[in-house]
Amino acid sequence: MWVSINRPAYVLAADINAGQQIAADVCSQCHGIRRPSALGLFPSLAGRDKRRIADALRQYRSKQRLSPIMNNLTGSLSHKDINNIAAYYAWVEPQ
Ligand code: HEC
Repeated sequence: MWVSINRPAYVLAADINAGQQIAADVCSQCHGIRRPSALGLFPSLAGRDKRRIADALRQYRSKQRLSPIMNNLTGSLSHKDINNIAAYYAWVEPQ
């Protein structure tokens, strides 16, 4: 029985696919997918806690946390985008 009430597998898969699209198009330029291209300059996101990634993105979006780059980038992200991206990066195995 692999479909649980709390986390139906099909919902999780859809979230991850949508998140993967944004990560590949936008985020990977700096954060990479499994690891950043330049470690030290950009924080690594792969395998990090989903909740922590989403919280950070919401804080950038509301400018509660300041970073000109991240404040700009998160301005156009919806609540759903943020959850999808966080689900994707949390799912990716770090390198
Ligand atoms: C142009 C480069 C660039 C792009 C593109 C970019 N980021 Fe960032 N990101 C940064 C930098 C620089 C920081 C560190 C900012 C700071 O000091 O708070 C950061 C920080 C973060 C953090 C906080 C990490 C931590 O350890 O607290 C998260 C989460 C994050 N980015 C997610 C994303 C996501 C998701 C995307 C795609 C929508 C994205 N970033 C696109 C440069 C980028």
